[in-house]
Amino acid sequence: MKKYKRTVILLIIIALALSFGCGPREEPEARDPVDEDPRVVVPSPEDMLVAAEDWKEEYPLIYESFIRTSRMQDNKVEDSSLGGLHPIDYLKKYPNIITLYEGMGFSKEYYIARGHYYALEDVINTSRPKPGASCLACKTSEYEKLYVEHGDDLFARDFQKTSQEISHSISCYNCHRNEPADGEIQITSPHFALGIEKLETTPKAGTQACAQCHVEYYLDPETREVILPWDNGIGVDEIESFFDERDYYDWEHPRTGTPLIKVQHPEFEMYTGSIHDQMGVSCADCHMPRVEENGQEYKSHWAKSPLKTVEESCGRCHGADNEGLIAQVQEGQREIESLQVQVSDMLVKLIADFGVALEEQELDDDTIDQLRSLHRKSQYRWDFVFVENSTGFHDYDKARETLESAKEYAREALNILEAQ
Ligand code: HEC
Ligand code: HEC
Ligand code: HEC
Ligand code: HEC
Repeated sequence: MKKYKRTVILLIIIALALSFGCGPREEPEARDPVDEDPRVVVPSPEDMLVAAEDWKEEYPLIYESFIRTSRMQDNKVEDSSLGGLHPIDYLKKYPNIITLYEGMGFSKEYYIARGHYYALEDVINTSRPKPGASCLACKTSEYEKLYVEHGDDLFARDFQKTSQEISHSISCYNCHRNEPADGEIQITSPHFALGIEKLETTPKAGTQACAQCHVEYYLDPETREVILPWDNGIGVDEIESFFDERDYYDWEHPRTGTPLIKVQHPEFEMYTGSIHDQMGVSCADCHMPRVEENGQEYKSHWAKSPLKTVEESCGRCHGADNEGLIAQVQEGQREIESLQVQVSDMLVKLIADFGVALEEQELDDDTIDQLRSLHRKSQYRWDFVFVENSTGFHDYDKARETLESAKEYAREALNILEAQ
């Protein structure tokens, strides 16, 4: 499709047609209640309120809580030499990933995610390669402004050059545009505006806001557009089949030649269909609960671990035993983490043995293809759970089943190698 036409259509989908509410639409049943509000308009770039400070006076408590995303813990002073809190180095914590991600950026540098306050700074500072301005899609409140200005040409535009033109990390604009009053959610990320059309059900507003970014995605190899691989559904197998149908891979493992998929952060996909999702709990209900401080009640905007606000986030359903509930969460997480490490141990062995067998030319072409296919399937499933940031909590059953099937694929490959 022509670039110009694409941009116009997308902007129409995400806003303009809706601002005139009664205009004819081709697919009325696909309408999204969040966007139905007739006030939804894309402001012209000079009118976009992209700084969180723009709302400081009107919503002081919300603003202050939002700024707390610059901390990871209560009242901890930030370490200024690191531009914030101490990042956790995954390469030290999980050394197996140096082997699993060999041949790509994440084997050289991989820190734990931090708060929204740091999103822009962290993407600029990472030494991993950035193939285009698309990498800013989830890091700044100014992305829509750039998109209105550049259209689809934005995606492949030089990252460095584009990041010098902006200065704000994620802010109110990402989820509310210029209309935060009443907590109305507006979708501003172009990829999610398209992605949501592929979903079978419409997530709650407090989930949509987060699914703009906390999802699996890939960049179109030519245009660098951010694409949500949801055409077949958002389950682990459906997303894999989307990539398989396109022979898509992010990189080839240097030792085994396996074309691998690097999963990103599929919180939305993992969460969808879970017990809590079925109960109608949104991401924001747990991560940004309504809280009371000094006698004033407000909607916290400190997106962080809900275990820091168990009473407010969970108490209404789980009662008053906060410590007991935290222990229950962590027990589940420990189980998932230990299974995750077990699978990664198997993958390390698979990569080593497969690499040696290839070097020694022991394998025929069919066996090589079969082993690569098993490696791809197993590592994709392991990665899906590993990079999902809740260590399984968002859906323990799904996380466990996914790792169990990763284990089976790895076991099958190891058996083939042993039989050689
Ligand atoms: C990551 C997305 C996100 C960002 C960023 C964000 N909000 Fe919100 N905001 C939400 C969600 C989600 C809700 C609750 C809506 C719901 O659950 O239906 C909300 C609710 C609100 C409400 C209504 C509160 C109430 O008592 O009901 C206001 C006002 C608001 N936000 C202001 C702001 C301001 C000001 C900023 C910037 C400092 C901001 N928001 C940043 C997602 C966001
Ligand atoms: C515009 C994109 C965007 C939106 C919208 C967004 N996030 Fe994030 N979020 C990020 C990025 C990027 C990071 C990592 C920032 C960093 O490491 O510098 C992050 C980090 C986080 C973290 C801390 C990271 C961690 O693993 O401890 C939490 C918690 C979080 N987000 C929750 C939410 C919730 C809940 C919502 C919806 C209310 C939401 N986010 C909406 C992009 C977004
Ligand atoms: C029922 C409550 C609940 C819901 C709903 C929920 N989460 Fe979580 N989330 C958690 C818990 C509990 C953790 C684990 C926190 C920990 O280990 O400290 C977590 C972890 C995370 C993390 C890592 C944060 C950290 O500090 O470790 C992110 C990011 C996140 N969730 C995003 C989301 C998104 C996006 C959604 C919606 C698609 C969502 N969550 C829905 C409870 C919830
Ligand atoms: C709207 C009500 C509701 C809220 C809010 C809620 N839960 Fe639940 N939760 C349930 C129900 C219902 C179940 C399933 C029955 C059960 O196991 O108790 C459940 C199950 C669980 C389980 C059992 C493991 C699982 O996933 O099957 C854990 C752990 C849990 N919740 C933790 C939390 C935490 C932590 C929070 C807050 C961050 C939270 N819940 C918020 C209703 C809720």
